[in-house]
Amino acid sequence: MDALAMKKLAGEFAARYVEPHTLIGIGTGSTAYWFIQALGEKMKQGLQIQAVATSKESAILAASFGIPILELNDVDEIALTVDGADEVDPRLQLIKGGGGALLQEKMVAAVSRRLVIVADERKQVAQLGAFPLPVEVIPAGWKHVRRRILEMSCPKVELRGGTQPFVTDHGHYILDCYFGQIQDAHALNLQLHEIPGVVETGLFLNMATEAIIAHADGHIQLIKRES
Ligand code: A5P
Repeated sequence: MDALAMKKLAGEFAARYVEPHTLIGIGTGSTAYWFIQALGEKMKQGLQIQAVATSKESAILAASFGIPILELNDVDEIALTVDGADEVDPRLQLIKGGGGALLQEKMVAAVSRRLVIVADERKQVAQLGAFPLPVEVIPAGWKHVRRRILEMSCPKVELRGGTQPFVTDHGHYILDCYFGQIQDAHALNLQLHEIPGVVETGLFLNMATEAIIAHADGHIQLIKRES
């Protein structure tokens, strides 16, 4: 099974977790795409739900499948959010933000009772950090933030998009930080948040409650976070 087939398998599998008449958070990326698509199919068969999107891209996609979208500010609690990830460790700690939607993804995750991660086996790591950590920053001060992160023994920090910076849904830039193996993700997250100009990091710690991992041999691995 190739990467696309694994993403489809995991994304579509997550649609069976959705209960009628609930509020669902819909993720961003090429794995979440299949979840949104499957949800659209279920709605054609009569399922009624409402959703909050984690990006403009996902909101447009969901609306095209007939899924009613609410604003995050207009809801209290989300029953279930299904989203992708760039890295998943054995304790379901994550790196997210490869698609640039980390801020809205984290805000949606924070008000979700369940955060189910859909991913293929290539995202599983023993320790976070091989994937460059995305850090969302205020454009007016990104160079100073970059310098501070380099001083934190991070050998390489790249402005996403380079001379034509990638701009997030919330109008910010992203610094991709090549820390390498992250020994203490909680400490790193706090340290990054102390830098003026940092808006959010791609470290999603103690947020995911479950993961649906698709494997190349076609089997699905279900993981629950130990409480
Ligand atoms: C979006 O900002 C990201 O957090 C995505 O959820 C993550 O990059 C996973 O994307 P894919 O499912 O496309 O690999």
